[in-house]
Amino acid sequence: MENLNTGSNTCLVGLQWGDEGKGKIVDILTESFDIIVRYQGGSNAGHTVVVNSEKFILHLIPSGILRKNKYCVIGSGVVLDPRQLLEEIAELREKNIEINDNLRISEIAHVVFPYHKKLDELSESEKGDEKIGTTRRGIGPCYTDKMGRNGIRVSDLFHPEHFKQRLKKVVEDKNKIFIRLFDADPLSWKDIYDEYCEYAEQMRPFVCNTVTFMDDAIKAKKKILFEGAQGSMLDVDFGTYPFITSSSVIAGGASTGVGVCPKQIHKILGIMKSYTTRVGSGPFPSELNDTLGEHLREKGGEYGATTGRPRRCGWFDAVAVKHAVMINGVDSAVLTKLDVLDEQKTIKICVGYRFGDKVYDLFPADLVARPECQPVYKEVPGWEKDTSRMRNIHDIPLQAKNYIHTLEKILGIRIEMLSVGPDRGQVVSLL
Ligand code: GDP
Ligand code: IMO
Ligand code: MG
Repeated sequence: MENLNTGSNTCLVGLQWGDEGKGKIVDILTESFDIIVRYQGGSNAGHTVVVNSEKFILHLIPSGILRKNKYCVIGSGVVLDPRQLLEEIAELREKNIEINDNLRISEIAHVVFPYHKKLDELSESEKGDEKIGTTRRGIGPCYTDKMGRNGIRVSDLFHPEHFKQRLKKVVEDKNKIFIRLFDADPLSWKDIYDEYCEYAEQMRPFVCNTVTFMDDAIKAKKKILFEGAQGSMLDVDFGTYPFITSSSVIAGGASTGVGVCPKQIHKILGIMKSYTTRVGSGPFPSELNDTLGEHLREKGGEYGATTGRPRRCGWFDAVAVKHAVMINGVDSAVLTKLDVLDEQKTIKICVGYRFGDKVYDLFPADLVARPECQPVYKEVPGWEKDTSRMRNIHDIPLQAKNYIHTLEKILGIRIEMLSVGPDRGQVVSLL
């Protein structure tokens, strides 16, 4: 879209609980950028891009990979599962997507190992009803090792003797946990070593010092798009803790997850769905446990792009998004999946959380998980028209304009683009 306001380095960030449609918007914006970089998360992400009815799901590789002559970078803040990465590369190549020196992987990114996935699996099973509902991709355990200084980084894989010694020690420690704590089978360090040495050779062409790569790019005035994964309400600090992921999802994470100075990020673009979804456990005040919730799930295709799990659905939660706007410093937003609301006679927006006779319109982090938390809704009329074919601002039904303006007013930000279907072309610029 020629008239999108993309004149500077931009960080694209999800404003809800993930799956806002980030992949689709990254793919569209990529046209106007030179480099697309992932800064956090790992293969827990599932970013969908649909091009001429062909569907691509990206887990680790930035969604910019589908466009020619762009660089895609996996920054040091990402936790990298080599098996997943190599599978993804193979799948993309099968679909004739070129991957060679356009993909750069940070040599200091932490590596996800089988023991991380096993720990994720075991600790979730152990928690029973209290489980987080993780993607079981080993994300939490890998970040735990990183912060606990027991991690193994991409560059370690290229020094076989050093890697062997380090891996042996770590696997020995993990096996104690498996056997003593979980009564589970131990893992063989040798099997992991052989497997990962093979992965290292296959990854070698892509691995580099992404810090200097990005520094050179900035000096050469290349345009950079930072691709957030997950959503701000899953952020390790500001999300609905402990029902969160283990990384800094918010725009601030882009700086620490890539090694780029915050001053080099000029614009924060928030992505938000016209309603709310969440996968896994945790508070969701505007959740709809009824036929309308089911309708949104079916019409919106709300099944996890990574795990296939049905997503929980509900009305737009402006209390949560306002919180996300604040902690990210969102400049403007893209509103996705407007078409999913086409059939609704009235549409609700959650504008407050009620606890007894007290109503909070600012996100109460310490209270939101309480069962007595009740949503307070503002109602607006629906448009009851098909919006999926709209391409022009003048096509937007009056009631849809009203919904958009109401959200803008509550959130205090401008919505600069609408998405009205999964395909690359299904967008309307509001600029
Ligand atoms: P991400 O993780 O934020 O990239 O989002 P996901 O790809 O996990 O989930 C978004 C889903 O909605 C995908 O299936 C997309 O193809 C689809 N999608 C994206 N934008 C729209 C839209 O505007 N309308 C509809 N109906 N589907 C959309
Ligand atoms: P994208 O990038 C939606 C959720 C999981 C779980 C919690 C912790 O596609 O928007 P984890 O495996 O990260 O330890 O799980 O976070 N989660 C996501 N939900 N979209 C995602 O990514 C998610 N990545 C993790 O369902 O509740
Ligand atoms: Mg997703």
